[in-house]
Amino acid sequence: MRLQPRNLSQIPLTGSTLSPMAEEPLTTTSGIPVELVYGPDAPGTYPYTRGIQPTMYRGRLWTMRQYAGMGDAEESNRRYKFLLAQGTKGLSVAFDLPTQIGYDSDAPLALGEVGKVGVAIDSIEDMQRLFDGIPLDSISTSMTINATASILLALYCVAAKRAGIEPKKLSGTIQNDILKEYIARGTYIYPVADAMRLVTDIFAWAAVEVPAWNTISISGYHMREAGSTAVQEVAFTLSDGVTYVRAALNAGLDIDAFAPRLSFFFNAHSNLFEEVAKFRAARRMWARIMREEFGARDPKSWMLRFHAQTAGSTLTAQQPENNIVRTAVEAMAAIMGGTQSLHTNGFDEALALPTEQAARIALRTQQVLAHESGIAQTADPLGGSYYVESLTDEIERRAQVYLDTIAAFDPNGMGMLRAIEQGYVQREIQNAAYAYQRSVDSGETIVVGVNAFQSEAAPTPTQSIDPDLERRQVERLRALRERRDPTPHAAALRAVEEAARHTTNLMPRIVEAVEAYATVGEIANTLRTVFGEYRETVVI
Ligand code: 3HC
Repeated sequence: MRLQPRNLSQIPLTGSTLSPMAEEPLTTTSGIPVELVYGPDAPGTYPYTRGIQPTMYRGRLWTMRQYAGMGDAEESNRRYKFLLAQGTKGLSVAFDLPTQIGYDSDAPLALGEVGKVGVAIDSIEDMQRLFDGIPLDSISTSMTINATASILLALYCVAAKRAGIEPKKLSGTIQNDILKEYIARGTYIYPVADAMRLVTDIFAWAAVEVPAWNTISISGYHMREAGSTAVQEVAFTLSDGVTYVRAALNAGLDIDAFAPRLSFFFNAHSNLFEEVAKFRAARRMWARIMREEFGARDPKSWMLRFHAQTAGSTLTAQQPENNIVRTAVEAMAAIMGGTQSLHTNGFDEALALPTEQAARIALRTQQVLAHESGIAQTADPLGGSYYVESLTDEIERRAQVYLDTIAAFDPNGMGMLRAIEQGYVQREIQNAAYAYQRSVDSGETIVVGVNAFQSEAAPTPTQSIDPDLERRQVERLRALRERRDPTPHAAALRAVEEAARHTTNLMPRIVEAVEAYATVGEIANTLRTVFGEYRETVVI
């Protein structure tokens, strides 16, 4: 069926368009015009199978957003400026484990972890150093933070204010997806109900104070990294999404007041066609859930907007250069699947945090795909393919079986919470992970350089973290505690505790606490005294 061509001049080519001469139609290298041909299920039309924007990357390329953070704020600030100079279009902050789990750098449990898997952030001064010289009113920032998301969002807003930027001018994303932490990633602190309250407090507060901010990044990435299948990744991520929407409605929020700022985060894995079909199925399913199940009326509430990261779990320590090829294939899957934002892994990340060279190659991979491959010239290039369309249908069908199974765990719409508590989701992922590993061990699944085509490779230089960093970070933290005014600091923490004991929104109190130089650990511990801590049930 020949779809109707659209007049190219109708397409508003704004933002970082592909072709600077927007009035000239794009052509292939042989001069064949890249016609925008649409049909009834066109890109930018409900249920968005083919993409959420009519023009997709012709109107604006995906955001090249490289996840980065290491050592202290200064070192990470240097890496962000390096990436911006290399052409990255959005920031993505990786925090160290103490920051993620609400401990200050001098806490006993932080010993040896300060600045290791991400940047150490203890206070508003660290946050100001992290973004020093970066124009936060013209760059969007993602922060991978969950249990302490409320504190880091408050720190970001106060750091912006101190740089003269009103929070209403800020754009970015806070991951704030606590459910996947119980399922797969593990950086949780509080019991589920209290953690969900913090999530919905951010929804309500940000809708007013930081209206362009994406308040959650509902993540399938980590469940896939834990070994789930593509179908499970879609099903468990959308089930988490349904749970957050239900919790926000139960908290009295209007669906179209918060749903347009929900976002998602998926894995871009190695099976190219299955991954493209996975993204198409997820978009279609979410659009129907939001319009037909929840009755959202704003089309922006129906659109599944997502970030993708190439699969860290496919990177091999053996023959690490092979990872450049793997990452390129996975990036193609994300782009042909219609991602809004993309991180490409460094080839050395099976060994350590990426070196500058690896980070640059990772970004160049996106730039080559964007500007040399033609992949961005039309929306949903594999749409209409018999194989990809049937894969899309089948992934949707199988994911729906999981959604219905999970919904049956609780008649009040909180089936995912019950399924997690009973270990159902975790067991499904563990079974899939075990089956995959057995297939690799048996040689049925080939991993080049690992169980086939092995060869010796020259040693790969890796990124190192300054061993003296932890001592310096602790010294800085203790100096801040010495010089801050104890009166507003103590009063602010008391106000946090008081709000936590009631149902008032915690965010304004947390903002006041970070302004009074309260640290991440002090605020998180204040909440620990009220909420207690989550204790994992044994998954049998
Ligand atoms: N025509 C017209 N307008 C267009 C367009 C087009 N073709 N394409 C985009 N636009 C507009 C959008 O509508 C948007 O406008 P708006 O702000 O008014 O809505 C603007 O251009 C920016 O586009 P996007 O919002 O699509 O792009 P962003 O990059 O700003 O946002 C996102 C993408 C997915 C919505 C956002 O949530 C995001 O950036 N997420 C990133 C999450 C992330 O980086 N996570 C990292 C996690 S790392 C991790 O957890 C792994 C570790 O644990 C190992």
